[in-house]
Amino acid sequence: MSDEKLTQAKRQGILACGLALWLSLPGAAVAQRQEPAPEALAEVGVDEHPGAQIPLDLRFRDDSGRERTLASLFSGDRPAVLTLNYSDCPMLCTLVLNGMVDGLQELAWTPGKDFEVISVSIDPLETFQRARLTKQRYLRSYGRPETAAGWHFLTGSEKNIKRLADAVGFRFKYVEQEKQYVHAAVIIICTPQGRVSRYLYGVQFPEQTLRLSLVEAGEGKVGSTLDRVLLFCFHYDAEAGRYGPVARNLMKLGAGMTCALLMLGMLPYWLRRRSHALRANVPPPPPSADHATGGSGPSAAFALPLAGMLGAPGGSLLFPMRGTAEAAMVDQVFYFIFIVAVFFFVLILALMTFFTLKYRRRPGVGSLPSPSHSTGLEMVWTLIPTMLVAVMFIWGFWGYMGMQQAPDDSYEIQVLAKKWSWNFVYPNGHVEPDLHVPVDQPIRLVMTSDDVIHSLYVPAFRLKMDIVPGRYTKTWFHAIETGTHQLYCAEYCGTQHSTMLAKVVVHPRGEFEKWLEQAANFLERMTPAEGGELLVQRRGCLQCHSLDGSARVGPTFKGLFGTQETMTSGETVTVDENYILESLLEPMAKIRAGYKPVMPTYKGQLKDEEITAIIAFIKTLKE
Ligand code: CUA
Repeated sequence: MSDEKLTQAKRQGILACGLALWLSLPGAAVAQRQEPAPEALAEVGVDEHPGAQIPLDLRFRDDSGRERTLASLFSGDRPAVLTLNYSDCPMLCTLVLNGMVDGLQELAWTPGKDFEVISVSIDPLETFQRARLTKQRYLRSYGRPETAAGWHFLTGSEKNIKRLADAVGFRFKYVEQEKQYVHAAVIIICTPQGRVSRYLYGVQFPEQTLRLSLVEAGEGKVGSTLDRVLLFCFHYDAEAGRYGPVARNLMKLGAGMTCALLMLGMLPYWLRRRSHALRANVPPPPPSADHATGGSGPSAAFALPLAGMLGAPGGSLLFPMRGTAEAAMVDQVFYFIFIVAVFFFVLILALMTFFTLKYRRRPGVGSLPSPSHSTGLEMVWTLIPTMLVAVMFIWGFWGYMGMQQAPDDSYEIQVLAKKWSWNFVYPNGHVEPDLHVPVDQPIRLVMTSDDVIHSLYVPAFRLKMDIVPGRYTKTWFHAIETGTHQLYCAEYCGTQHSTMLAKVVVHPRGEFEKWLEQAANFLERMTPAEGGELLVQRRGCLQCHSLDGSARVGPTFKGLFGTQETMTSGETVTVDENYILESLLEPMAKIRAGYKPVMPTYKGQLKDEEITAIIAFIKTLKE
């Protein structure tokens, strides 16, 4: 007999009452393996008819002798446990019914209220009085006599028994010489409408299997929400005869719960944002001192002890001073992740070391079997990291979104990055190599690059944003203290990348406007040569051109004016006003021999009088 057939035989639990003489119970499958199945057994078993409708018009007699239809038992409210047994059965029926009663005892639900128990006798000669005795016996064993109305021990005609058995696929047989019925050990779970939902085989029915199969059959009419969640995660495993976990659904549930947790965490953010949007025209209150000490929003309660431990408001163990309120948030999230990581690193290494030593191989001591799993431990190491990661995400999300969206009343400064200088263009058109901003005012930077990717990075503001040629990237910050900070390029952009620096100057209230007014009109207050000197510093010319005669990326300005120079094309050019003008506007037109064509254009970025001033300055740089 093949393994498959064996399993099937086991599944069907074909155990015969009278045949128990030659087929002892636990040995049934073994006996079948050794010799062909007895003829009687071949006609006995279960043909599963899931979803089949039980003929509800069939009439049976209940234990009081009253005749009733099956329709009166399937009211549409409750699922039912249906068994086909008979009272005079010497063995198997008792085992099945005892197993069912044992399982039902564990189940908190009440027959007659949450479900029905229907036991139909397959013996047409059985009287209702005999059935009543049987019912009383099992009720006593069940121990809850008040549930008698939910137990139905039915007797009926051979024709009706046959129709019911056929409908549910229950094949049984009367063996003449034994004077007994041969049948399978099975109980059938039915829906409230009297349809077959599931077959449970054997003589033991664990509480969880009974409960979940009733929940499943109940179509939402029995069981709590938790039961339904369980049913989603546990599916009936016919091989094992019980409900086993479904990894896919468990993971779906876990993912759903994680999403719900994250949504819940983000809810306050969305709500706050909405209320901000409603008050869009009201300027936000000036940041309080609280901002500077690193306590803002939901993180304050957690972060304050951290801030105290790891750093003063003006900076911390690992970070420079904080120039913005957002910097505090970045530090807190960083320290949270950092401390969590260090904690688990130390914990895991310490445990590893400990276990390695404790369970090291010793002479004369054999290895111990490992436990296959521990549900408690698995829950702990799943739930704790899930929660920690959710906190990291939600906290980081709040901070990220806050740093992404500039307030509507921001002061806008254009940033043009090029190899290897910064141009900050103010609303009045003034261009500076350094970033000047007023304190207590959100600043929005709209940035683009002339050549390659650069990145604006101000450590004190915890601010970093890439600048990409051919598109605008935006970022913003809100300086809360006056002072000067360093600004870096944080994207390798060529040989002079490390010199691509600038200052961020935070002016006191009212001072910034004065500074901008003066800075913008510098040419009016100076000689052209003085103005030109300022311009070559401010516009980044000196990153590539020296004033002392040394060659850098570009030729030196010293003694340049009026000389004859050879170009890469071989022609000779006199360095005069027109050559300098052309080099500023069309730098690729004439490249001096020995230099690379890397000069960016200043077309549209320098006014005529500025170009004149630069030429005037270069003229002064005699040898
Ligand atoms: Cu610009 Cu590095």
